[in-house]
Amino acid sequence: MSDILHNIAEAKAYIQSKTTIRPTIAVVLGSGLGGFAGDITNKIEIPYNTIPHFAISTVQGHSGSLILGTMKGKQVVCMAGRFHYYEGYSTEQVVFPIRVLKAIGVTHLLISNAAGGVMDGMKVGDLMLINDHISFATVNPLIGSNIDSLGSRFPDMSAPYSKAMNTKLKAIAAQNHIAIKEGVYFGVTGPTFETRAEYALIKILGGHAVGMSTVQEVIVAVHSSMQVAAISIICDLGIRDEDNTITHQEVLDAAAEAAPKLALLYTQLIATL
Ligand code: HPA
Repeated sequence: MSDILHNIAEAKAYIQSKTTIRPTIAVVLGSGLGGFAGDITNKIEIPYNTIPHFAISTVQGHSGSLILGTMKGKQVVCMAGRFHYYEGYSTEQVVFPIRVLKAIGVTHLLISNAAGGVMDGMKVGDLMLINDHISFATVNPLIGSNIDSLGSRFPDMSAPYSKAMNTKLKAIAAQNHIAIKEGVYFGVTGPTFETRAEYALIKILGGHAVGMSTVQEVIVAVHSSMQVAAISIICDLGIRDEDNTITHQEVLDAAAEAAPKLALLYTQLIATL
């Protein structure tokens, strides 16, 4: 057995030894969105640093644990905190939790992230439903020998984001009078925010929001045939006034403010899955 398969099996066995919950829905909570897990009942929290082969999340504002429980009558698992490539983890470490989620039975992956706004008319605090992504500026996590039991060598990426879930999310947003934009997420490695010239280039290339997470997770989720939905909270505006700089604190503040809207969308989506 390959090391990766062996490690996935050990992490799966550990998680399943801690709980009888067998979730089919997972939610990845990005910067400032940890509060979502407050709505989960019968929950059990498993710190990442106790799960075999998980890396340890180090960024301020990201706690690191899996939270399993029930929401809207469904068994769910939240990733409270995620691993970013810019922290120095290998791509294999960044996507390992997604592979473990698949192994424990997750079929639907709901992702959130903090992103910079690039699309004209965006405001801080906007939500953007991701309908596609551009990953040329990140490292593909599938580079290396393919493990056929996890997925195919050349995965199709014509529709990484579930049209069915996106249709539902737009309907839920409309019913609840939540404005939501829709567009392309441009993945970068970070940790620097983009220069003005880089933001301008990203816009020319077709990005509507830019961020340092998500793309690698989505690639692995699609590789393993999961249904994916993802929403960005727009935390700063890349195309901005001359004297406008971006700080990590402002990103966290904007994410925390918009988080309740995103929580409502995902909670109601979960009820339909
Ligand atoms: N760029 C990249 N990642 C980000 C940004 C940004 O402007 N804002 C939050 N995450």
